[in-house]
This record gives sequence, structure tokens and C-alpha cells, in this order.
Amino acid sequence: MHAVRRGGPAHRARPWRMLAGAAALACSAAGAIAAEPADADAGRALFTKDTTPACAVCHTLADAGATGTIGPNLDELKPDAARVAQAIRNGVGVMPAFETLSDDDVQRLARYVAGATGAAP
Ligand code: HEC
Repeated sequence: MHAVRRGGPAHRARPWRMLAGAAALACSAAGAIAAEPADADAGRALFTKDTTPACAVCHTLADAGATGTIGPNLDELKPDAARVAQAIRNGVGVMPAFETLSDDDVQRLARYVAGATGAAP
């Protein structure tokens, strides 16, 4: 009987420890991605609608809500920023080169994709 009573508070204490751990994880992940929130928003807009054709038409990227399946799933590929910029500028296979994008937009998009997939910038 005593054992059951003592078990109660211990069980209630556990979820708190797990919550604290999850919160710490969530914070560090958000910090890495949202270093420059405005830049990330601009990158996401470029990805979903501001290029022609939009990256999202062909690629899956969870952060952008994109579910395209013509190109590789970027959440799985996790390309770094240099690889994304290279693909945008020169095209890859059936992926067209986006020659009319400014250098700033290419960089913004590259940083956004690399950040959103957790790849090194
Ligand atoms: C018309 C469909 C299409 C569009 C639009 C498109 N892609 Fe792609 N993308 C592809 C395909 C297909 C591949 C794989 C090509 C191959 O490996 O032969 C690819 C490959 C890539 C890769 C991997 C390159 C590598 O090194 O393997 C990246 C990164 C990428 N795309 C990013 C983007 C971004 C960012 C945009 C928007 C500016 C975009 N793509 C627009 C179809 C597309």
C-alpha cells in the first residue's frame, strides 16, 4: 500500500521532465532555422510561388508545405546551400536553370532550403 502511494507523485513528476527536454530541443531547432526570420519568409515565398516554375511544383519540402514529386525530396536529400545554389543557377537533368533570379534571391533560396532541411548552411 505504501509503495503505491509513493509511486503516485513520481509518476506525475516524469511528464514535466520530458516536457522540459522537448521544449529545449524545439528551441534550439527553431533558433537554427530562424536566425533571420524575414529572410526565411522570403526564401519560403520564393520556393512556393515566386519563381517560375515554382520549386514546390517539383519538390517536397515540409517547411514550405510543398509535396512535389518530380524532383528529389529535399527533406531527404538535405542539400547544403552551395548545392542548392548550383542547381538553381545551372539546372540539373530535367530541372531548368533559373537564369532570371537575382544573386540575392538565389542565395536567399539556397539558405532557406539548407536551413529548412537541417543541412549545414
Ligand atoms: C520542373 C521541375 C523542377 C523544378 C521547378 C525545380 N526542380 Fe529542382 N530538381 C528537379 C529534378 C527532376 C531534379 C533531379 C535532377 C537529376 O538529378 O537529374 C532536381 C534536383 C534538385 C536539387 C538537387 C541537386 C543535386 O545536386 O543533386 C536541388 C537542391 C533542387 N532541385 C532545388 C530546386 C529549387 C531550389 C528549385 C526552385 C528554384 C527547384 N529545384 C525547381 C526538378 C525541378
